[in-house]
Amino acid sequence: MGTSIEKEIEELRNTIREHDYRYYVLAEPTISDEEYDKLMRRLIELETKYPHLRTPDSPTQRVGGQPLKEFPTVTHRTPMLSLANAYTEEELLDFDRRVRDNIASEQIQYMCELKYDGVALSLTYDHGILVLGATRGDGISGDDITQNVKTIHSIPLRLRAAINPPTYLEVRGEVYMNRADFETMNEERRLAGEKTFANPRNSVAGTLKLQDPSLVAQRPLQFVAYYLRGDRAPLHHSECLKQLEAYGFPTCKQSKLCHSIHEVIEYWKYWEQHRNDLPFDIDGIVVKVNSLEQQERLGAIAKSPRWAIACKFAARHAETQLRSIILQVGRLGTITPVAVLEPVYLGGTTISRATLHNEDYIRNLDVRISDFVLIEKGGDVIPKVSAVIKEKRPPSAVPYQFPPMCPVCNAPLYRPKGEINYYCENSNCPAQLKGRITHFASRGAMDIEGLGEANVEQLVDLHYLHNCADIYDLHQKQRELESLERWGKKKVQNLLDAIERSKQQPFHRVLYALGIRHVGASVAQRIVEKFCIIDKIQNATVEELTAVQGIGPEIAESIVRYFQNASNRTLIERLRKAGLQFEIQPPIETKYTTLAGKTFVLTGTLASMTRDEAKRKIESLGGRVTSSVSKNTDYVIVGTDAGAKLDKARALGITTLDENQFLAMISHNE
Ligand code: IVH
Repeated sequence: MGTSIEKEIEELRNTIREHDYRYYVLAEPTISDEEYDKLMRRLIELETKYPHLRTPDSPTQRVGGQPLKEFPTVTHRTPMLSLANAYTEEELLDFDRRVRDNIASEQIQYMCELKYDGVALSLTYDHGILVLGATRGDGISGDDITQNVKTIHSIPLRLRAAINPPTYLEVRGEVYMNRADFETMNEERRLAGEKTFANPRNSVAGTLKLQDPSLVAQRPLQFVAYYLRGDRAPLHHSECLKQLEAYGFPTCKQSKLCHSIHEVIEYWKYWEQHRNDLPFDIDGIVVKVNSLEQQERLGAIAKSPRWAIACKFAARHAETQLRSIILQVGRLGTITPVAVLEPVYLGGTTISRATLHNEDYIRNLDVRISDFVLIEKGGDVIPKVSAVIKEKRPPSAVPYQFPPMCPVCNAPLYRPKGEINYYCENSNCPAQLKGRITHFASRGAMDIEGLGEANVEQLVDLHYLHNCADIYDLHQKQRELESLERWGKKKVQNLLDAIERSKQQPFHRVLYALGIRHVGASVAQRIVEKFCIIDKIQNATVEELTAVQGIGPEIAESIVRYFQNASNRTLIERLRKAGLQFEIQPPIETKYTTLAGKTFVLTGTLASMTRDEAKRKIESLGGRVTSSVSKNTDYVIVGTDAGAKLDKARALGITTLDENQFLAMISHNE
């Protein structure tokens, strides 16, 4: 070992840091996930082997340390102030006037940034190494959440490009979550039967309070830095932002240096109009006097500085009348009630439709046809009906009854116990057919090139496809297809080849392709790993299904119901006959039914037991241990520094087990 190992570790760390930065801060990754994982695995391997070379700023330290009982309290070196708010142009002009009165006759520049709707965080770096991450708390002292903070990949554990780092540096910023990540996370939680969060901000706050950092590591937290102080802080806020970037922090990409308060107003108005174009929520803009020296002179009153102000966005509501409620049928039969409105202008567009989400939402609002309602354009682009103006209710308005039938195929609607949505359960419903087939053929599912939306639409309209199994009969129609508009010999052949190839897609993709409600790609994979074969899944009970990690009662019930439906079973039978994959080989562990009659060879050093102990263990479970590898050997157990026996095992194609696999094997047999 010695210097060459140290050198390799240091090089690995630098490479991984660079890739973390490219991926999480610049969003421009330059290597694949596999390559990245390989580097990380090698680093973990070396640090496990040489624990004395582990350091707190190593990229391996992000995965999350030991759970804590409670967070220690820390006092902020300087209080974490909050900001005064301005809601109107008048209030902003007042702020500007107060600033100029105090600074008198000097040039004032304002730096404008977005106001991220998240949770404030203070980070302390000692000689360039992250030593503390703290919440704002009451502004004077907060919680030491360093362990949690380390899991956020866009926060450098060590400052970038700082050959000669400052002895002390404090960075403040906001932890937030992108809306799309929030939605995905919430949906996963809902389906796993866990509590959901009301909005991205709450979910960030909840996450940072978790006492198990490994759970925090799984949440998609983002960070943006907006404040820097320390031994060598620059003279202007704009330079602080540049310095923060050089240190490897993300900063507000939309920040703008303004030379007059009118430019600030423009910036404010602009982002009020364009906030929905951002992937995250903002609730205003923040305006800061750019010169730190001027900031110093302005000082603070009570809880907020005189040199900065938050300009909030007005809530965006519009009032209009509800004409009717229609039902939309989604790709997998989900029914969404939609309000048809008297068109109204709101936030730059005219709105004539808004979502009513579901039956409970309608009931809770008690919204009735011909009511006057408030429309809100929230974080998401789809407007919603947010309130009813009951004082204006026409006397004739009656409570809304949710229709019992699918508006497209007239099948009865079904609302599963504990769920908020109704579904049209007819998988042959024309509203679903095209969507179901497109999903079946899509990239993450059966991956049939040539069966995209447009072609599916054409083939369904021409009655070539009535369900997914019909895809595998298309070869019987080769001649007819060749004569269709937009097709031809070559294209048809390509499609038929792609269909043939899709038969090799692994079982979990087939299961996902079926489009069972709530069964996404990862749920499908888990189910397949657990049950291995379709027959077992078809007959599984809710209890058996919920025993699988990540599967809550909603998913389980949806699966059971899917297979209770006779036409779904027929569909699967046809697909099975067509040659699709409906099983996998059971994983290797389940093969270890007994060690009796098996011959083992040990090589290298095991960490958890001596070779003799391992030998006795194997023998006590009925196995035999020999000293040299031959074709009669069943397993070679490989410890660290394994020698020639490993090479021989590989040459003979004998199964090798590392220590963990070996331990798993014996624990199966105890
Ligand atoms: S500067 C003393 N800049 O808004 C000034 N704050 O209501 C420190 N916030 O506690 C704050 N985005 O959590 C600043 N670009 C930004 C911000 C921002 C969001 C939050 C921050 C602060 C709160 C004040």
